[in-house]
Amino acid sequence: DPETIQASANNESDAFVESLLDKMSVEEKVGQMTQVTIDLILKDNSTTEIDPDKLRKAIVEKKVGSILNVKGHAYDYDTWRTILTSIQEVAKNETENSIPILYGIDAIHGATYLKGSSLFPHNIGMAASRNTDLVHEAAYITAFQTRSSGIPWDFDPVLGLGRQPLWSRFEETFGEDVHLVTEMGKAAITGYQKDGLKSNTAVAACMKHFLGYSVPVSGKDRTPANISDLYIKEYLLPPFQEAVDNGVATVMINSGEINGIPVHGSKYFLTEVLRNQMGFKGLAVSDWEDVKRLHTRHKTADSHKEAVRQAVEAGLDMSMVPYDYTFYDLLVELVNEGTISESRLDESVRRILKLKNDLGLFDQPISPAVSKEKLFNPDFDKAAYTASVESMVLTKNDGVLPLKQNTKIALVGPAANAYGPLHSSWSFTWMGNDESQYSEQTKTFHEGLVEVFGADNVFSRSVTEWDNEKNYEIGDVSNADVIILALGEPPYAEGPGVIDDLDLDEKQLQLAQKAIKSGKPVVAVLFTGRPRVISSIEPGLNGILLGFRPATFGGLAAANILAGNENPSGALPFTYPRKSGDVIHYDHKGTEEFREDIPNTYGNDGYRPQWDFGHGLSYTDFKFRDLVIKNKSIAKDGTVELTVKVENTGKMAGKKVVDVFVRDHFASITPSAKRLKAFDKVYLDAGESVELNFAIPVSDLAFIGRDGKSVIEPGDFDIMIGGLKETFTVK
Ligand code: BGC
Repeated sequence: DPETIQASANNESDAFVESLLDKMSVEEKVGQMTQVTIDLILKDNSTTEIDPDKLRKAIVEKKVGSILNVKGHAYDYDTWRTILTSIQEVAKNETENSIPILYGIDAIHGATYLKGSSLFPHNIGMAASRNTDLVHEAAYITAFQTRSSGIPWDFDPVLGLGRQPLWSRFEETFGEDVHLVTEMGKAAITGYQKDGLKSNTAVAACMKHFLGYSVPVSGKDRTPANISDLYIKEYLLPPFQEAVDNGVATVMINSGEINGIPVHGSKYFLTEVLRNQMGFKGLAVSDWEDVKRLHTRHKTADSHKEAVRQAVEAGLDMSMVPYDYTFYDLLVELVNEGTISESRLDESVRRILKLKNDLGLFDQPISPAVSKEKLFNPDFDKAAYTASVESMVLTKNDGVLPLKQNTKIALVGPAANAYGPLHSSWSFTWMGNDESQYSEQTKTFHEGLVEVFGADNVFSRSVTEWDNEKNYEIGDVSNADVIILALGEPPYAEGPGVIDDLDLDEKQLQLAQKAIKSGKPVVAVLFTGRPRVISSIEPGLNGILLGFRPATFGGLAAANILAGNENPSGALPFTYPRKSGDVIHYDHKGTEEFREDIPNTYGNDGYRPQWDFGHGLSYTDFKFRDLVIKNKSIAKDGTVELTVKVENTGKMAGKKVVDVFVRDHFASITPSAKRLKAFDKVYLDAGESVELNFAIPVSDLAFIGRDGKSVIEPGDFDIMIGGLKETFTVK
């Protein structure tokens, strides 16, 4: 039976790993725990050509077990395979135990570093689509392209909650809600690892960044988070736990610190929580240079050597060093002088070898080549286009949209004529800011509008360089029927994406004001990675479409939505703030609804986001009715079963996101206004209706109680769907 076969395979694999481990020297073990960047093995003035001496220094002399990244920009398929082949040949033929190299890459929102690939929207857009099938498919496609290039390890997905909109990596999150992030994360991981790690279409996924990276107090990248134990358990851990339960192979650690303790040096988080409590058995890799930074930035270690000791003692398996061999040298010293035991190394090396073996790298260090037709299957483009369409959120429409076929469009703004704002981080380069690197099939928003409305109908003076003054001039719009403002954010990643203010910048706001003053209808299309506050211009805009880094086909998708060729169906995966100092999440506590301050005497109407979590308009109308809870009095071990009808009462076919919220009336820990507990997305033709069923186990209504343990408290709860509400009781 399959269980016996699996168990004997595990035994065989364990026996193989143990026999290998027995043969390895301390140096080889430490080498396995060392990861360096490809820069260290390339010829001095080349971005792609391997220097054989440097390669031998890394793999033979320093016994390095893992390499990552690209130098500067994406490589084409053949280059990847050539690089990986040379690396694996040296590992196989010139080292004592012929251990293959584990190559890792950031294939984020598609095959980031594979030249010619089509990219998917960033996670924040994928979460807006509420379409877990699309997330799963995107991950599967990405895995196939990555593995076929010779790379078996992908540093994705981000499972941090997007609750700090200033944070420059907000676009990499699946939004602010714990249930949404958990479900989307699971869909991605099971897509990456589909059919098992040995499969030629799979990569080892990497949940990251464990833990608390996404909620820095200041909003700045890699800065401290102060988080209570309750918050960690209630909000931050569940997506990671779900990933562990679904067999995620690896984890990357948060570069920041929690309550004054850098996570890379925290035995509590890396061993007690991650391993002992959550049951994670896979490989834990550091983030970029973070071991050294325990000394240079966090200053919990008074030397680099002490930093290595702290991280390894805390439970780290592999250090992304990545620019030198200091980690290797220092860890060998620490073991030789007896500060760190060899058995401690064995724990980590076991995990590393097991992953290499699970991936089948010992038998087949690089997966078989595939044809270009297979690699860039047109169906992948279709999936990426669909994802772009479904990721966009129409937040305002006074009737101006969809635009009629021959509408004369004046297109202005900095996001009109560049690829970067549609993509941002991890797009052929780290920051996505090298316009020369984008795939041929990519279209700017301007090109998309031209394709859909015709060159004769679209006028634009916008240029590629974000700051160019031309992008902030309105020009002569007398012949235009509508002004389309292409606004948003330039591309960025990590540190360079730090901002001090959520408000959209003054230059763009002034441009919008000029457009509004012209008296023409104005539609704003924003390409951003996080909510930028636009409340000062919103009242003057006739339509607003949000594109969350919708990538390769994002420009075309936006144009088709404006034309009504596609019906928008995205729903906000976060609460869009009205004021930069008023970031309150949809699942806020009761006291956050009260505002008695002057001049905002809102009373109990103090929760006033620009747009609520889940908001998203369509060109058709959907009506919800007949919300029925089958069992209104339920035991703690029971399941809430409910049905609701959704009808497309408008004139156009469309998809509708259905978010199911639960509100606990009273609880010993202040209950949230509501919490998302389930979601779905349905397609309905005009006039069509459907009855949806949801089953929510009462255990999903548990929360972390005052004693730090999960508890289900009896009492009344509301179910809320599309403006309907019903109450049930837990006994
Ligand atoms: C990022 C990680 C990424 C790593 C490797 C770091 O700067 O924080 O998310 O996986 O670089 O490129």
